[in-house]
Amino acid sequence: MIRIENLSKSFFDENNTVKALKNINLQINKGEIFGIIGLSGAGKSTLIRCLNRLEEPTEGSIYIQGEDITKFDKNRLRDLRKDIGMIFQHFNLFSQKTVYKNIAFPLELEGLPRDQIEKRVDTLLEYVELKDKKYSYPSQLSGGQKQRIAIARALANNPKILLSDEGTSALDPKTTKSILELLRSTRDRFGITIVLITHQMEVIKDICDRVAIMEDGEIIEVNTVEELFKHPKTKTAYEFISRVKSDITEEIIEPNSFKGTVIRLGYSGENAKMPVVSRMIKEFDIEANILSGDINRLLKTSVGHLILELQGKDEEIQKAIKFLIDNNVKVEVM
Ligand SMILES: Nc1ncnc2c1ncn2[C@@H]1O[C@H](COP(=O)(O)OP(=O)(O)O)[C@@H](O)[C@H]1O
Ligand SMILES: [Mg+2]
Repeated sequence: MIRIENLSKSFFDENNTVKALKNINLQINKGEIFGIIGLSGAGKSTLIRCLNRLEEPTEGSIYIQGEDITKFDKNRLRDLRKDIGMIFQHFNLFSQKTVYKNIAFPLELEGLPRDQIEKRVDTLLEYVELKDKKYSYPSQLSGGQKQRIAIARALANNPKILLSDEGTSALDPKTTKSILELLRSTRDRFGITIVLITHQMEVIKDICDRVAIMEDGEIIEVNTVEELFKHPKTKTAYEFISRVKSDITEEIIEPNSFKGTVIRLGYSGENAKMPVVSRMIKEFDIEANILSGDINRLLKTSVGHLILELQGKDEEIQKAIKFLIDNNVKVEVM
């Protein structure tokens, strides 16, 4: 769907060059919800803005449905932008226009007849569940409602791709969830590919299939969300996931304050975890105390950790640990 090759972007001013993107390579599949996470200044907005050429790349290619859009002329660029909707952190609605006029705007640009515009806007308002706000002005809406209207506007031309630049960053956690829910159903219903950038791992955790981690203009890790939580490849990824508040929280454990051997198990939905632990307790001459655990529910599975204190003879403990490893449980002795 989207293939980015050797993409670089530098900003130049009198005495300064900022390399905002450095040799980015990335592939995003059709119908995927793809997240890009990084700290402020990492280059996320620059990257996403290159996808619809709001930003001109300095070097490299971007293929969308097989065509290199960096070579598009004005006319083709106009068509491309119809195929790509975008939402922003601060909604970017026209404050002087009603909700109706905001959503109608891209359709008016297309020169659609009035009755068709009205019908389409009504359908979209129904989709985002804000029919009753048709003649309201943005200032009369909550943040979440504004973003719903912005999403309706972004979908007006039936785009194939939806870009979100920190689309939930100005919203409280509950509203964030409801907007993410709307984005997910938009992908499910219309098969739209969604690329969203965020600095919040919660957002990635809640709706993304895969994620790229950006740091200092580079993509340092691309991973499925599940793998990222289970086996982050980079330190930055680890730091991002450890800041996520677990659905059940792991307490801080001081391993030295326990007599036995403290181990931390990493498990995920598909490797039935508890049976392995209870089998271990039965098969080996040890005692196991559960000290703490956490679990993170992801889109398709859960990943979690369990911290156990094992007591018994060293030899038995070593055998028990080997048993866990042999059964695909990730074990770390703390
Ligand atoms: N128009 C611009 N002119 C000069 N520098 C810019 C411009 N836009 C972004 N930058 C710089 O590029 C880098 C990446 O910015 P940005 O893509 O906005 O990061 P992010 O969205 O991850 O916070 C930053 O150092 C930023 O200051
Ligand atoms: Mg940004």
